[in-house]
Amino acid sequence: MSTIEIMFNGIDSIDVDPKPAEEILLERTGPGAEFTGWVDLPVDYDKKEFDRILACADKIRRESQVLVVCGVGGSYLGPEAAIDFLKGKFANLIAARGEDPDSELQIYFTGNNYAPGRIKEIIQLIGNRDFSVNVISKSGGTLETAIAFRIFRKLLEDRYGTEEASRRIYATTSRDSGLLKAETDRMGYETFVIPDDVGGRYSVLTAVGLLPIAAAGCDISQLMQGAADMRSDLLRSDGINKASLYAAARQQMYRQGKKIEIFGNYDPDMAGINEWLKQLFGESEGKDGMGIFPVGVSLSNDLHSMGQMIQEGERSIFETVIAVEEQDDDIIIPAFDKDFDNLRYLEGQPVSLVNKCAVDGVMDAHLDGGVPQIRITIPKKDEYTLGSLFYFFEFACGVSAYTQGVNPFNQPGVEAYKKNIKVLLNNAANKMI
Ligand code: PA5
Repeated sequence: MSTIEIMFNGIDSIDVDPKPAEEILLERTGPGAEFTGWVDLPVDYDKKEFDRILACADKIRRESQVLVVCGVGGSYLGPEAAIDFLKGKFANLIAARGEDPDSELQIYFTGNNYAPGRIKEIIQLIGNRDFSVNVISKSGGTLETAIAFRIFRKLLEDRYGTEEASRRIYATTSRDSGLLKAETDRMGYETFVIPDDVGGRYSVLTAVGLLPIAAAGCDISQLMQGAADMRSDLLRSDGINKASLYAAARQQMYRQGKKIEIFGNYDPDMAGINEWLKQLFGESEGKDGMGIFPVGVSLSNDLHSMGQMIQEGERSIFETVIAVEEQDDDIIIPAFDKDFDNLRYLEGQPVSLVNKCAVDGVMDAHLDGGVPQIRITIPKKDEYTLGSLFYFFEFACGVSAYTQGVNPFNQPGVEAYKKNIKVLLNNAANKMI
């Protein structure tokens, strides 16, 4: 059973063979093989921990009106993307109205930047509401996350006292290493494990994603089922699977000088998916002076900013569009006595019809403009589909990076800027003493 349809426009034949890379990935013989635990994760995960996640999500929803999630990179992009996709970008504002007892919890992601204003805003949004904190860090020492955790832990301890604050802190980290793990043990926080063999950007289906997504009221069993079914689909041995085909197509594009992949969607609630994809592919493939540069656009709004560039700019781009087949929450275009905007022909039609025509019309125009395209169609926006989508792209990314000839699971380049920041901070702090 597959939830994802894939179509290629302007890519006539795919000559790149993804099979060797797929074998390296599945036989775990390539560089970074020790981080391929995500391949079997949808069918081989800790069921007891899964039940504990459900129980804690329930507890958070009972005890708190706000959940603050501290994490960065792979420790937040997946859950934020999932919650926006499933609940909508304005879910927090709707929850804050307090009219729906099932969706009162607001979830704010922090610890992903150093902007004091953003942290202050979250403190303001909490106000006098009850809140809990989920700190997520595999290494347990990431600076953005650690600073935010200090601030929100202090806020909790000042408000509830250390003991009750500790009951409200949920830590998602390594099984047995890192500063966060040590502090978690010392304070007795409820702890969830990021398996050693699953790297940050492949971790959305671990507690990293599952706890915040469940706390948001989404069905994480369906999410895992979607991923498990996609896994069975991709691992069938007959022919080339869709994810590998997609991987081969993007590597072929790269070899033909199409060095920029534009991830596009037609729903602002999918902007987070773009961010997750950018990290997944960017950190996995941008190595050894190579790599497709991933960018994201949300349409139709970005047609009014990036449309010109896509249509007529340098032809070094290809597009990967995720289109949703069935829109729920549709809305009808209203009728007026006077046809003041020449839109009478659309009266009584659903807005989703306009969106569908926009997807087809824009893709055709871009194709005419010389932009090869990969169209990924998903049936609807639900947990099952999202689980299958996450797994599809993780698998495609592993195959694509191995086809390119790099280790998909390390990120040696991110250490350089971290070192610089630490030196500058030490210097600045010493000057102030
Ligand atoms: O994909 C990765 O491994 C990174 O993006 C990490 O997720 C990110 O740097 C956060 O790391 P940590 O979870 O150790 O705080």
